[in-house]
Amino acid sequence: MCDRFTLNGQTAIVTGGAGLLGAETCAVLGEYGANVIVADNNRGRGTAVEERLGDWAEFRHLDITDEDSIKNLVHEVDADFEGIDALVNCAYPRTETYGQQFEDVTLREWNENLSMHLGGYYATCHHVAKEMIERDAGGCIVNLGSIYGVRAPDFSVYDGTDMTTPVEYAGIKGGVINLTRYLASYLGDHGIRANTVSPGGVFNDQKERFVRNYEERTPLGRMAEPEDVANTILYLVSDAASYVTGQNIVVDGGFSIQ
Ligand SMILES: NC(=O)c1ccc[n+]([C@@H]2O[C@H](COP(=O)([O-])OP(=O)(O)OC[C@H]3O[C@@H](n4cnc5c(N)ncnc54)[C@H](O)[C@@H]3O)[C@@H](O)[C@H]2O)c1
Repeated sequence: MCDRFTLNGQTAIVTGGAGLLGAETCAVLGEYGANVIVADNNRGRGTAVEERLGDWAEFRHLDITDEDSIKNLVHEVDADFEGIDALVNCAYPRTETYGQQFEDVTLREWNENLSMHLGGYYATCHHVAKEMIERDAGGCIVNLGSIYGVRAPDFSVYDGTDMTTPVEYAGIKGGVINLTRYLASYLGDHGIRANTVSPGGVFNDQKERFVRNYEERTPLGRMAEPEDVANTILYLVSDAASYVTGQNIVVDGGFSIQ
């Protein structure tokens, strides 16, 4: 039995832990021995995930757009679990109008969405990294990017639907990937690794036409499952990736190679 992926005794905060990818990430990290903080601003869904997962999972309220909320969480988890070993940013904050066509996105909406999502990822990384530096025991950060942070969207996958990928997403995810490189470079001396995982489209009961378009466009012939993404996050958090930092691992069934 190889224990390279074991996270026994480690504590991981998963922001957006009640969401599609966050909940699966909590499940996989916990399965490999971590204490998992399901950190989310949706109390109902967060406590449901906590109950489903077991004793090693604990819901704590977090709003990544509110610096006091982040500071409180970091302080509490640090005190209650004797430090934070890993931060995984899976939260997906957005304004009510998010998801509009390019022509309809105002500067204000652009600014708000970049501030909430890219800014929120920055703020959580900032406060958790400061705690890790102070504790001087290393650590690991994984931020969720997207294939649309590394390449232009292929709008043909939305043909025949009213779906799109909003322009803000290009700015947010391009920013997340490069922010993570900065963190890796700055924090390396402290033994803190930082990487991005960039999924392609994850299956979530989308419209049939979209799913068909997407599958036809993807070398592996299917959309991602949450587990595909969570397994990659497990690798990056574990000792198996102890010499991997500053990277962006694309998990997209080959979508972005064409
Ligand atoms: N689902 C996909 O197809 C896909 C593809 C590529 C990248 N991603 C990225 O993966 C990440 C997770 O996406 P998802 O599909 O799981 O999203 P989701 O909407 O299913 O879950 C997001 C979670 O974040 C929480 N959240 C929202 N605002 C918050 C805030 N201010 N503070 C704390 N929590 C907050 C929500 O309550 C929710 O539980 C995002 O960064 C997303 O861009 C998703």
